[in-house]
Amino acid sequence: MINSACLDFLATITLESSESDVEHKVIVPLLHLLGYSNEDWQTQVGIGSSKIDFLISFKATQGYSSAYLVIETKAPKKNLENCVWQINEYMRQTEAVLGLLTNGYTFYLLCNHQGKILKIAEYSQSDLSLNPAIENHLLYTVLSKKALLIFSKEMRRNQLSIKTKFLSIISKALLGKDKAKLLIGEENFEPDTGRDLSKSPIQSKTSEKAMIITVFNNKGGVGKTTTTINLAAALSKLGKRVLLIDVDPQANLTMGLGIDPLDDVEKQGKKDISHLLVEPRVSLEQVIIKKRWDDISLDIVPSHIRLSDMEATLMTTPDIDRVLAKKTKKYVDEYDYILIDPPPSFGKANSIALMASSGVLIPTQLSSYPIRALEYVVARAIATNEVKEGTLPILGIAVSMYNRTATRVSLEMIEQLTNILQKVPGAAGVEIYPESTWIPNLSIISTIPNKGYPICFAEFDQDLDRREKEAAQDAFYSYLNLAKHLISTTSRKE
Ligand SMILES: Nc1ncnc2c1ncn2[C@@H]1O[C@H](COP(=O)(O)OP(=O)(O)OP(=O)(O)O)[C@@H](O)[C@H]1O
Ligand SMILES: [Mg+2]
Repeated sequence: MINSACLDFLATITLESSESDVEHKVIVPLLHLLGYSNEDWQTQVGIGSSKIDFLISFKATQGYSSAYLVIETKAPKKNLENCVWQINEYMRQTEAVLGLLTNGYTFYLLCNHQGKILKIAEYSQSDLSLNPAIENHLLYTVLSKKALLIFSKEMRRNQLSIKTKFLSIISKALLGKDKAKLLIGEENFEPDTGRDLSKSPIQSKTSEKAMIITVFNNKGGVGKTTTTINLAAALSKLGKRVLLIDVDPQANLTMGLGIDPLDDVEKQGKKDISHLLVEPRVSLEQVIIKKRWDDISLDIVPSHIRLSDMEATLMTTPDIDRVLAKKTKKYVDEYDYILIDPPPSFGKANSIALMASSGVLIPTQLSSYPIRALEYVVARAIATNEVKEGTLPILGIAVSMYNRTATRVSLEMIEQLTNILQKVPGAAGVEIYPESTWIPNLSIISTIPNKGYPICFAEFDQDLDRREKEAAQDAFYSYLNLAKHLISTTSRKE
């Protein structure tokens, strides 16, 4: 049994400590407290070109041992969020049941269910030190040598049911009075239900109608498409059902998600946005391409360059402004969010997108020209609101390509933007999204579109190095914040 006094070693870590300090001053004493002795673990275990910091195994069947717990340590200055990809990779490769990622201050506890890695709890140093009944911590319940022995005994006896039993242990711990910040609900760990736990842990199907959002800014290259793709992935990660509609003839969103408008759509006789807009019999369902990357699922209406030659046809198509609105209306129960990516213009495609929408999200860079252009962008959204059936609220202004080193300039730009909003009639209340949602300007974000997946999938890409994977995770963290903020904004607006 361990108690709070025994956790005094946590106080030996400072922000200046090294990764090796975390290994020797935190992990080794912690493992001792959890009942392990030095010969129970291996250190610096090579897998591929990487080395696992700590590995604890158990004898699964005669002669074979299986990985139980992988521990990855980081220096205290490291942001753990950017390192999750690494422990995920180690846990997938070793098939370890549990993972612990820590920088000595924060502790992530992860669990491997059929190759799907779930972060099940997060602890701070104070969570660990302040709870006097530390033996009730989930950390102790599942990481201790006692738990390992039960697990390995059960595993030998009945390999099939052990996973469920193990999840049941976690479930009971989750129901207890554990002070850790639990990241998933206990309903996800109900034992013996046969439910597929490999699905997103917080997948939620709501009965509400989809919010249809145009990511709108007539200025070119401000990050509309990149924001749309990764915001959609973040919404999906958060359990939302998402449809993306590409109405830009450049088809950047289509290609950025790995769909070739020629090879994957035209040559295979499939239909795209141009058919949806001008052919009355073509329904939304007929043009959707479904894509999946790990736990991210996105439905996509692809675009095609031919849309650029169709301005005249669009002009003469009856009721064209409402055609997308009408065709999406039938599917609003199928999705939580429908995001539309329009071209950089005030042309027909843009008005079609706005007329179909129930909200507008405006991405901008924090630099002079894009900020000045916002006056017209906001005014245009407000003008559409006035002529359109139903309202078209501006959900907010989201910052893309934020230069983290230019804090002073950014603040000046925010001030300038606030002044601009004051000037545009009806725009004074428009929210500028908070700094935690600003998407940093990172070269990894601009290289990923060539790969055809949302940035969170970079952790599975063996062609990327450690630095690139960390940068990708860093970027996706901001997109997740943006998605969470959008969810809270849209639930307030409903
Ligand atoms: N956060 C970021 N960090 C670095 N590069 C970025 C970031 N966001 C976007 N980019 C890059 O900036 C360029 C413009 O982005 P994007 O295509 O998303 O803008 P857009 O507004 O959709 O452009 P268009 O008006 O042509 O449709 C692209 O090369 C993209 O890869
Ligand atoms: Mg674009």
